[in-house]
Amino acid sequence: MSRLTIALSKGRILKDTLPLLREAGIELLEDPEKSRKLIFPTTHPEVQIVIIRATDVPTYVENGAADLGVAGKDVLMEHGAAGVYEPLDLDIAKCRLMVAGPIHAPRVDGRLRVATKFVNLTRQFYAAKGEQVEVIKLYGSMELAPLMGLADRIVDVVDTGKTLKENGLEPMELIAHVSSRLIVNKASFKRKADLVQPLIQQLSDAVSRKR
Ligand code: ADP
Ligand code: PRP
Ligand code: MG
Repeated sequence: MSRLTIALSKGRILKDTLPLLREAGIELLEDPEKSRKLIFPTTHPEVQIVIIRATDVPTYVENGAADLGVAGKDVLMEHGAAGVYEPLDLDIAKCRLMVAGPIHAPRVDGRLRVATKFVNLTRQFYAAKGEQVEVIKLYGSMELAPLMGLADRIVDVVDTGKTLKENGLEPMELIAHVSSRLIVNKASFKRKADLVQPLIQQLSDAVSRKR
């Protein structure tokens, strides 16, 4: 039976994490992008990988349902993730969390309406500036909200800026630089140190070699 479970999400985190895991001697026996399975054995007899939604990774790791996980700093900040260790910046899935709005948007009188999936982060950001805003929770395609008159601004991650540009929006304020982090359940960190510590070291070496 596997003693160590690593939680990853499909898409860019999986794609960018697998090469790092490979350097630590962990390879999937099957391609998860082509499978409907959720639990995957690996070439390491004591390690399995579970594939879940990016936003669920902190929950699995905090509760010990997974020992380790990889999650974006945006997701970790939004979740709180107080119950996990964050020993390593994997330097992958790099982007910026930003406020954006229509190009040359005029100042808004009264309460700004801000559409985002990062409602906690957005409230914290504007509270720190002493601005009262109305936060509108969305689950994706935030860029559409200003175009449809649902919101004045959005808070989302930006990489190349292509998505903003193609929708007539522009970046306005930087909230945080984002990359993906290795997170570890606090109990696993101690009780499974014999597996966890060497893995952190090997991943850290793999990240350094890529830099
Ligand atoms: P989701 O289905 O939740 O959108 P993604 O795979 O798109 O999952 O995003 C996972 C993480 O990758 C995000 O939490 C963020 O840290 C980062 N990310 C998201 N979009 C981009 C992007 N366009 N370029 C680089 N990194 C990104
Ligand atoms: C992300 C993000 C932006 C876009 C930014 O979406 O939510 O829409 O990337 O990248 P850019 O600045 O390079 O255009 P993603 O590709 O993850 O799509 P999804 O989350 O809606 O599936
Ligand atoms: Mg996405």
